[in-house]
Amino acid sequence: MVVKVGIVGSGWAASMHARCLLENVNVELVALADVSKSEGMAFAKRYGIPKFYEDTGKLFEDPDVEAVYIMSPPKFHASQAIAALQHGKHVFSEKPPAISLKEMEKLAEVVEKTGLIYQIGFNRRFWPVYKKLKSLVETGKLKSYVVDIKMVRGEMERPPWTKLSEVSGGFLYDSMIHILDLSKWILGKPETIRCVARKNVYPHFDGFVALIEFLNEEKTIESITSVGHASWVYPFERVEVYGDHSSAITEENFKLTFSHGKGDIPNVEVYQFTKLPEHVAWGFKEEDDLFIEAVAKGLKPAVTVIDAYDSVKLVESCYQSLEHSGRVVTFA
Ligand SMILES: NC(=O)c1ccc[n+]([C@@H]2O[C@H](COP(=O)([O-])OP(=O)(O)OC[C@H]3O[C@@H](n4cnc5c(N)ncnc54)[C@H](O)[C@@H]3O)[C@@H](O)[C@H]2O)c1
Repeated sequence: MVVKVGIVGSGWAASMHARCLLENVNVELVALADVSKSEGMAFAKRYGIPKFYEDTGKLFEDPDVEAVYIMSPPKFHASQAIAALQHGKHVFSEKPPAISLKEMEKLAEVVEKTGLIYQIGFNRRFWPVYKKLKSLVETGKLKSYVVDIKMVRGEMERPPWTKLSEVSGGFLYDSMIHILDLSKWILGKPETIRCVARKNVYPHFDGFVALIEFLNEEKTIESITSVGHASWVYPFERVEVYGDHSSAITEENFKLTFSHGKGDIPNVEVYQFTKLPEHVAWGFKEEDDLFIEAVAKGLKPAVTVIDAYDSVKLVESCYQSLEHSGRVVTFA
């Protein structure tokens, strides 16, 4: 069955997903909407999309559209997802799902009421490097006693809305949400979270240190350091998991080193994912293929509205903590 897709937005994320969707024989790109006529028309032409709407509402009303990809800036995600669902369309939304708990609760309610498919774009879950890391933890080869994660952005100026917290939702919603979701996906449910943050360069919080304790068997303790003003220097993203005389260390989306043993010369396994094209290495291809399959076959989506809700709760728990100078917040 071919799924007819409409896309909202024509920026970088939209181009990445359009590339994945065009490679899927079960997809027809039928319409595009963008508030910018010039950008939207150029994008539609580039990807061979026959219909263009300057008014996003018209795309939701289009009877040809079965599923909508929401690729606009974060501020619009929840309201556009809700409008699309209310017009009977399945929804794939880029992260964040919403930029407040109130919006997220409404979105979850509409997903439940309509029974339509909603998938959130936590593409880290599909990075081959993190899938390998998760399998090491799940098979017990690597005990996750202590975890340290670093994730930084060079600047918060490209695209320009990134520096406007009222549009992006702030750094936690726009960037760190990926790492909070990834942590939960690999380590399970958090028990407590504490977070301190500073306004270093931008007029809103742009530097964060968070400590999370998990409910899992190992009672993992995790630290996360994340800033939005690092300059673009490697590493941007690095996860280190320390187990029973073992460690797994990731480098961006292309390398995982797993070392185990007590001897002077440990056993070292190196997994490299350097030959993958970017839309595969960054997980977009697999998440899109799974969404289309879920729509075509009526399956549960790979990343659900509950996952979306939990990630928003985690962001809000960080805010609760940092607003009280790093107070411990229980993640219920
Ligand atoms: N998962 C990832 O790794 C990843 C990577 C990059 C971006 N993203 C997310 O994708 C989304 C888009 O990011 P981007 O980098 O493509 O941004 P962008 O600024 O490049 O593109 C956004 C597009 O949306 C259009 N737009 C703005 N307001 C709109 C509205 N109200 N209705 C319809 N269209 C509107 C703009 O004209 C533009 O074409 C963001 O939420 C971002 O966080 C995710």
